[in-house]
Amino acid sequence: MPPLQEFLALAQSIAPEHRYRTVYDTDFSVLVPGKEAIDADTLQVFSRIGFAGRTVVDLGCNFGFFTFEASRLGAARVLGVDREARVLAGCELLKKHFKIDNVAFERHDLDDPDSTLPARQFDIAMLVEFIGKTFVVENRVAPALAFLERLSRRELIVSVQKIYWIRKELGTTPGKLREVYPEKYVQGGDFLLLEYVCDCLAPRWRMEPLSPMAEGYEKPRKFLRFVPA
Ligand SMILES: C[S@@+](CC[C@H](N)C(=O)[O-])C[C@H]1O[C@@H](n2cnc3c(N)ncnc32)[C@H](O)[C@@H]1O
Repeated sequence: MPPLQEFLALAQSIAPEHRYRTVYDTDFSVLVPGKEAIDADTLQVFSRIGFAGRTVVDLGCNFGFFTFEASRLGAARVLGVDREARVLAGCELLKKHFKIDNVAFERHDLDDPDSTLPARQFDIAMLVEFIGKTFVVENRVAPALAFLERLSRRELIVSVQKIYWIRKELGTTPGKLREVYPEKYVQGGDFLLLEYVCDCLAPRWRMEPLSPMAEGYEKPRKFLRFVPA
C-alpha cells in the first residue's frame, strides 16, 4: 500500500484527542483535519527562524508539522519527539510520502526523569504549541522548560499564549493559582504566562519575540526565540 494510503488508514484509527494538528499534503490540501489548523501568519513567523544548516529537535511533534517544516526551511537534520507511538508511526509514513530523508522520529516522554534524550545536543530545541491550559493549571510549565533547555546551548523556540483569562480559559480562580505561582504572574483575572516562561529561563536565556506583540491580552500563540543571555 502507498505510504499515504497507509497513513490515512492509521490516522482514522488514532483517537481524536491524539490528532492535534491538521495534516496537510505538500500542496497544502488537508489530509486529516485536526483540532488546530495552520494559518499564514504562523507559517510566516516560523519561517523567520534561522534553520539553515542547523540540527533541530521538535518536542511534542504530534504528526510532525513543524518537524517537516524545519526540514523544508533548510535544517540539516530534525528529530521529532513524541510519547505517542501510533502518532510517531504516522510521522514515519508521512516522511516516506513527503520523501524527506533528513528527519527522524523517536519516542521519548518529557515526564520521564530517566529519559536519555537530554544527553544529546541540538542547535535548536523547539517546544511548539505544547504548553497550554492544563500545563498552567497543573503547574507543569517549569519542568517542560527545564527539559527543553537541556537540549541546546544555542537556541530555544517556544510558542505560548501570552496571557490566559483565569476563570474563562483556565477554569480556575486567581486565589487557587496564587497558591502555586508568585503574585506577579496572577494579575486580577489574568495569568501572565509569557512573563512566567521568560522568568523560568532567565537569567540563562534572553527572549527575542518572533511574533508581533501588542500590549495586553492576545489570543494567538506567540513564537519566542531564546538565546544565551
Ligand atoms: C498540543 S500537541 C502539539 C503538537 C505540535 N507541536 C504542533 O504544534 O503541531 C502536543 C503533543 O505533545 C505530545 N506530548 C504530550 N505530553 C508529552 C510528553 N510528556 N512527552 C512527549 N510528548 C508529549 C502529545 O502526544 C502531542 O502529540
